[in-house]
Amino acid sequence: MASLLEAMSEKIVILPIHGIGGISKTTFARLIYNDPKFNCYSQVWVHVSQRFDSNKIYKSIILQLSGKEGLANECKMIHSRLKKLLCGKKILIVLDDLWEDNQFLLLELKDMLYHDDSNITILVTTRSELIAERICTNLQPHKILPLTNNMCWDLIKQRSGFKDRNDKEQLMGIGWEIAKKCGGVALAALSLGFTLRPMNFHEWMKVKDSDIWNEPVSKDLFLPNHVLASLMLSYSYMSPCLKPCFTYCATFPKGHNIVKDDLIYQWIALDFVKPTKLLSNMELCERYIVQLLGLSFFQQPVSPKTSEAYYKQATFFTMHDLVHDLAISLLGNNILDQSKQGPCEYWI
Ligand SMILES: Nc1ncnc2c1ncn2[C@@H]1O[C@H](COP(=O)(O)OP(=O)(O)OP(=O)(O)O)[C@@H](O)[C@H]1O
Ligand SMILES: [Mg+2]
Repeated sequence: MASLLEAMSEKIVILPIHGIGGISKTTFARLIYNDPKFNCYSQVWVHVSQRFDSNKIYKSIILQLSGKEGLANECKMIHSRLKKLLCGKKILIVLDDLWEDNQFLLLELKDMLYHDDSNITILVTTRSELIAERICTNLQPHKILPLTNNMCWDLIKQRSGFKDRNDKEQLMGIGWEIAKKCGGVALAALSLGFTLRPMNFHEWMKVKDSDIWNEPVSKDLFLPNHVLASLMLSYSYMSPCLKPCFTYCATFPKGHNIVKDDLIYQWIALDFVKPTKLLSNMELCERYIVQLLGLSFFQQPVSPKTSEAYYKQATFFTMHDLVHDLAISLLGNNILDQSKQGPCEYWI
């Protein structure tokens, strides 16, 4: 924050935040975004994601700065509208989850977000150190380091309700071993902590000694094995009815704001939910949502809500990209990706 504030007298400051998948880059960017020091700034949050589309980024910035959807689709029109909106302002822009490493495209993006008469501060989160170096200006990229094992253990304790348990002494050592397996990634600790909550001593042991830890589940260079392994473990302990409800969410695009009520009706329509004598469909769905939130498989969105009246009333969730990757990998060949398969009947 100190180095960012020091550099902010420049016309454009870009602070890249990089680190492995799930390490807390977005969380860190959000802390800066919500800091009172930026109260006098116009603020914009863009979820960039793997498919880089510069016009989509510019249109999202235009929408958030002006409150109006731009009708223009032509590049020139979009560019001139964006430049006009950037003029004479103090603006904080977060470009969350940038994957594009093409130097030419990154340069063009920087040029478009520069304005002679403005102070523009940009935070970029990315898993890649190379992209961080390519996009940065006068500030050194900030690398997010893993949490300590102690911090992971604290998260597990919080989520598993550890302090209220009678078997604390017995569980202490096993819990610590599980915390070490989280590799300093909060998401891994949070989901495992929640999974351990209803479990007894023997089940904690089973989690610790599970074969999943040794299986090569991650093919991504920026994503160590333990992160997906811990999510996979949490999935494996879900109730059989919750499993299809969760994997179904792979059909939404990454970063999508899922509308709670729509999702519940879709689960019921698809016959994923089986009412019992005690619980109706709706009550079961509410429980599933609580479970998915507890596991951190669902989160409250950060990006601005849509302006349509219906959606203003609605409750939204997003899925973390890693959780989305898990759902996709679980569906395997049962889901077709339009970008990989060409024209097809079903797509994500
Ligand atoms: N210090 C922390 N304490 C508790 N929860 C945390 C902490 N840091 C991050 N989290 C939680 O961990 C999850 C992953 O964090 P985040 O989304 O910031 O990771 P990321 O590095 O941006 O991941 P990706 O590489 O996929 O974009 C989120 O659910 C977040 O709320
Ligand atoms: Mg992120």
